[in-house]
Amino acid sequence: MRSATVIGLQWGDEGKGKVIDAFASEADVVVRYQGGGNAGHTVIAKGVKYVFHHVPTGILYPGVTCVVGNGTVLDVVALKTELAELTEQKVALSNLRLSSRAHVVMPYHRALDEAREQARGGTGQIGTTKRGIGPCYADKASRTGIRLADLYDPQRFAERLRRNLDEKNAILVHLFRRPPLAFEPIREACLDAAEALRPYVCDTARVAQDALREGKRVMFEGAQGIMLDLDHGTYPFVTSSSASSAGVSSGAGVPPAAAGKVVGVAKAYTTRVGSGPFPTELLGEPGDRLREIGKEYGATTGRPRRCGWLDLVQLGEAVRLTGCAGIVLTKLDTLAGFGPLKVAVAYERGGKRHDGFPADEAGWEELTPVYEELPAIPADPSYLGATDEDQLPGVAREYVAFVERRLGVPVSVVSTGPQREALIRRGDVLGF
Ligand code: GDP
Ligand code: IMO
Ligand code: MG
Repeated sequence: MRSATVIGLQWGDEGKGKVIDAFASEADVVVRYQGGGNAGHTVIAKGVKYVFHHVPTGILYPGVTCVVGNGTVLDVVALKTELAELTEQKVALSNLRLSSRAHVVMPYHRALDEAREQARGGTGQIGTTKRGIGPCYADKASRTGIRLADLYDPQRFAERLRRNLDEKNAILVHLFRRPPLAFEPIREACLDAAEALRPYVCDTARVAQDALREGKRVMFEGAQGIMLDLDHGTYPFVTSSSASSAGVSSGAGVPPAAAGKVVGVAKAYTTRVGSGPFPTELLGEPGDRLREIGKEYGATTGRPRRCGWLDLVQLGEAVRLTGCAGIVLTKLDTLAGFGPLKVAVAYERGGKRHDGFPADEAGWEELTPVYEELPAIPADPSYLGATDEDQLPGVAREYVAFVERRLGVPVSVVSTGPQREALIRRGDVLGF
């Protein structure tokens, strides 16, 4: 099989969109397999900025089939708007395929997401994107969800919606003291959106399976990052899907081996949106400065991202969990001119070296990173957007080599700017 999986190795927003767009021309099919409108994948191509939430990033290439798999959750109204915006940007959508088995994010999911967050209050909040992701995946697991296919059977859809809405309204009204949601506007909006999506809906597992069998090149596009993975992330401060390479098989309807070569995208430093553990977080002025230089504001919610040093303990765990065989290191240019750089190489707990990740929240709070200091990368605009390693100053090359050495995984690409072309290829990337 000629396939590869590109995933985030940190807490999301590593630059997956930029990287997938840069390599999508080498694929025949790009498949999203988990997550939903919580994702925000930014691409800057030919001077135009695109932000994808549900639609796979490969859509900018007319020859690439773009699949939204059964493991995703789709806010059909938001997706309809996303498609309209892409059409306005002159992006052709004829190669888009949406899984009839994907679950639909309903307005009551968003309302519950918001109500639960507010009820948790202050530090207890997960800091979700409030896109209804958690409640929708919860309904999927509870077997009360509504799938895309259900929208094309209006009678049955209305029955399920009625039943679900009665239950959710009881929770919203009696538990959260919120107004109930009305049935008819939801029914109408869903059916209207379903009509707009109809041309794209099909059995996408078949599309992916056929492509693999025919020897086509298939790239699986991860959303979020391994530290937000439902099982392996910093639970409960995670998303509700399998953001690791392990999600490919169930989320796309292909055998586990179809994930192929796993390529991990990591920022040259670390960011996180929302609450939860972040051992190398830079608080105060340095963190604010990094946020400003790196323009670290969420692509979906616009929230400021928390910023900190690169964490090789965290990345080591990510490499072990995902089996990643190549790393794309993004935003190296952001570190230029920042000053002496620190990289976490170990954790200490109670004054002793601590191996592994704690499962409990309190355990994370007790961790202190052990840093190695690396020389500052000089501010020099001449290598912004560099495409050749020789254009980089020696200290920047040493930073990359340090990461590679410590993780034992080749850095096959260094990204040097947000634009499609701004990257240095150091080796084979997708392994097709
Ligand atoms: P994703 O969710 O992983 O696709 O990442 P986002 O799009 O949410 O956030 C990454 C941000 O960094 C976007 O604004 C990208 O345009 C930008 N970006 C990606 N790679 C680079 C890079 O190498 N250098 C710089 N300066 N910006 C980058
Ligand atoms: P991309 O694909 C960064 C975070 C939220 C919150 C937690 C749970 O652009 O990398 P959710 O709405 O999923 O229930 O929120 O996960 N989160 C992301 N952070 N990038 C993302 O996606 C994210 N998707 C969810 O901020 O902390
Ligand atoms: Mg993002």
